[in-house]
Amino acid sequence: MQVLVLNGVNLDMLGRRDPKLYGGLSLNELETRIYEWAHELTLTVRCRQTNSEGEYIGWIHDAYRDADGVIVNPGAWSHYSYAIHDALEILDMPIVEVHLSNIEDREEWRRRSVISDLMAHRVTGKGPDGYREALEYLAGRA
Ligand code: DQA
Repeated sequence: MQVLVLNGVNLDMLGRRDPKLYGGLSLNELETRIYEWAHELTLTVRCRQTNSEGEYIGWIHDAYRDADGVIVNPGAWSHYSYAIHDALEILDMPIVEVHLSNIEDREEWRRRSVISDLMAHRVTGKGPDGYREALEYLAGRA
């Protein structure tokens, strides 16, 4: 099973963002863990991150051809990007939404995810382990 992990805006700054919310790992360290977990689960994974919404949407379009499952953490785009919603809506494969922090317990504007209706599974507030849960979820469907 080919899984695409798409981290969005500001997630390249992990390690410098509030560790109480997002944990202390850098993006590089997080991606290393994701590759290790995927290996254990015999999934093939590709991790990507961008701060450009258009590039992110292009990768979602590519998933249509290249992936069997997608894990998304679009960062702040999750709360307002109908363009990302509409790109994800085209995919005919399971999509899992991950947030490191517990968005339901934070500011009002952060509590709503405009992509949540498209998700096969959602994980919030579990830090890096949320990505592991997402991979396990997809492996269970493989
Ligand atoms: C986040 C939560 C978002 O509200 C925030 O804008 C992020 C990270 C998370 O992983 O907890 O950048 O998606």
